[in-house]
Amino acid sequence: MPHFIEGSEIGKLLSRIVNTTINQIPPQAKFSDSDIMVIMKYRPLLESMTEDIVKGFYDTLFSHSPTAAVFQPGERPLREKTLRDWWIRTLNGPFNEDYWLWQAYVGIIHYRRNVTPPMFMGMWAWIIDNVIRKVQVSPELVSALVKLGATQSSLMVGGYYDIVQYALSRVDISGDLLRNLVISIIEELASGIRK
Ligand code: HEM
Repeated sequence: MPHFIEGSEIGKLLSRIVNTTINQIPPQAKFSDSDIMVIMKYRPLLESMTEDIVKGFYDTLFSHSPTAAVFQPGERPLREKTLRDWWIRTLNGPFNEDYWLWQAYVGIIHYRRNVTPPMFMGMWAWIIDNVIRKVQVSPELVSALVKLGATQSSLMVGGYYDIVQYALSRVDISGDLLRNLVISIIEELASGIRK
């Protein structure tokens, strides 16, 4: 797991993504301390599924042309290793600041490979569905995994907005300008809807 130096440009960007994203999730829907206890309780069971999850994850991505197109020839073993390391680190905790900064980084790193939010969120659905199918899962575990998946996916989607805004700000295009432009285009498009 990488460590992001406090005060560095990447550290500040990731902190912003984590803080805004986590603050926007209503408390009742947020991955909480009790969800962490549940993950810890079921850790041996979840850890025993590691190889199935890793293999199934990439079998799924390689069997669908839009997701298979993301990968370069020979890349699969490396990708399997990073997913395995991520899964084991996640199950072992702790869910501390470094972990969430890394999750924000994991999210934005996918941008450079054209991995889209539907692909990413679809695979979270696949992980949870797979756990449910493989074992007699209790509702508390499903709930904890859903909230963890929603939080990590939110960091990915929120991070995609932030990294684009950040990149534009580097060439002097502000976030407000971008937002106003997008809103005015949505309004222009919406004016063509017959009600
Ligand atoms: C549940 C959803 C996913 C999780 C948890 C996940 C996790 C990860 C992790 C931990 C890394 C390594 C990040 C690092 O270097 O620290 C990574 C990289 C990568 N993932 Fe994913 N991933 C997900 C979905 C996907 C999907 C849907 C695709 C492709 C369709 C994908 C393709 C890749 C690629 C190509 C990289 C290498 C990125 C780079 O270094 O340029 N991932 N992913």
